[in-house]
Amino acid sequence: MRPELRTVIPGPESRRLAAELRRFESRNVTCITEGFPVFWERADGASVWDVDGNRLLDLTSGFGVATGGFNDVVFTKAAAEQTGRLYHAMGDVHPAASKADLCRLLSTATFERWGAGEGKSILGNSGFEAIEAALKTACLATGRRNVIAFEGGYHGLGFGALTATGLPPFADPFRKMLADFTTFLPYPYCFRCPWKCPGEHCEETGWPSLRDAIGHAHAHQPIAAILVEPAQGRGGDIFPPRGFLRMLRDAADEIGALLIFDEILTGFWRTGALFACEAEAVVPDLICLGKALTGGFPLSACVGRAGIMDAWPESDGEALHTSTFLGNPVGCAAGVASLRRWLDPAMPGLVRTAGEAWERALHSVLPRCVSVGEVRGRGLMWGVELTGPGREPIPVGPIVERALADGIILLGGGRLGNVLSVSPSLAVDAATAHWAAEQMAGWIREQAAHCPPDQSPVDRDLACPR
Ligand SMILES: Cc1ncc(COP(=O)(O)O)c(C=O)c1O
Repeated sequence: MRPELRTVIPGPESRRLAAELRRFESRNVTCITEGFPVFWERADGASVWDVDGNRLLDLTSGFGVATGGFNDVVFTKAAAEQTGRLYHAMGDVHPAASKADLCRLLSTATFERWGAGEGKSILGNSGFEAIEAALKTACLATGRRNVIAFEGGYHGLGFGALTATGLPPFADPFRKMLADFTTFLPYPYCFRCPWKCPGEHCEETGWPSLRDAIGHAHAHQPIAAILVEPAQGRGGDIFPPRGFLRMLRDAADEIGALLIFDEILTGFWRTGALFACEAEAVVPDLICLGKALTGGFPLSACVGRAGIMDAWPESDGEALHTSTFLGNPVGCAAGVASLRRWLDPAMPGLVRTAGEAWERALHSVLPRCVSVGEVRGRGLMWGVELTGPGREPIPVGPIVERALADGIILLGGGRLGNVLSVSPSLAVDAATAHWAAEQMAGWIREQAAHCPPDQSPVDRDLACPR
């Protein structure tokens, strides 16, 4: 499972392909530097082989998608069988059978499991499309236009989702075209608590001030929906303290708004529960799903309480929200197979064991590094926040690139760009988790050692060679 490198990273074939991309792909899409990227050839479990024959260890599950590991037999068998029979149908006109099976199972896995009646779905291709469907549903169900979302939240980059994404660098270049329907509120980010709550006692300061802010926003412009990630992924792997989701549920009910959980990343065991909201037993009105829903085929879903979804009028042959590839047969078949697997009674035990291994590995090794401000997470979603003595952010870009050079695929995140994001698949065993944590500690120390001691940690890291 550990990396086996045959060339320097990136190898010659990856470099050749990068030059092609630099010429023929829009230049903002793929980040190409001396050390990035590698081009993937095949993958199995947590191992990825690149086009130069190097075997790398992936600690991202490919953006949190391959929770069961790559080349997962459940997913590939179902997808291959469906591909052999039919790989395109007429999604909203004459669908494939697998679309009906998937919508049925999505209801079983969500609202029915939560004892909240049946759920109805709108399928999409990418995660952000599920968000767009949720926002439109909120508009139809409430007759209102405004949304509350959270600083640091990431909901995807379509125009609706982007308008509710609380990471300004994604939205700023397009401000002139974006609608203005979102009020952003602080997210409970305890390491940098916006309300300076004592301990984790948000009920004294945090929750009341959020409740006030929601009420204030609603009084100004009626709120259609509160959109939130139950744990923020891209914003820095942040898990809010208990009570947050319950408070949002109460606030949404009070003002007659819908509560939308974006579980595109957190769904399907990423945080140790089937859905992150289950840790607080709070049921949303709409839940957005993607990524591990299929284990790799581009398919997403907005699932809602049936009564709320019925705000959409009956289709008269011209669906108001659809696309050419909606309900793709292969994606739906992969989704059905994945959902059956995610609902398997063995899953909680498997995820608990893996989560405990990561907790042990990261907590035993990383806090010993001076620039590790916090190690946080749950299940298969962990963040390592790097900071200087005054909690100044230390950018993780150089470490991500250093890790790749050693054959480990990691991602950086956090609104300040200083969180190493570890979202491994179930395929990584405990010994490898421990080894990977030690590697991380080595790179973090190495980066600190490269830097002249008379500069602040931020300056030191910016000045470091990559
Ligand atoms: C929480 C969350 N919501 C939405 C999205 C957008 O999904 P996609 O990139 O598939 O459009 C992502 C993607 O990372 C995400 O993590």
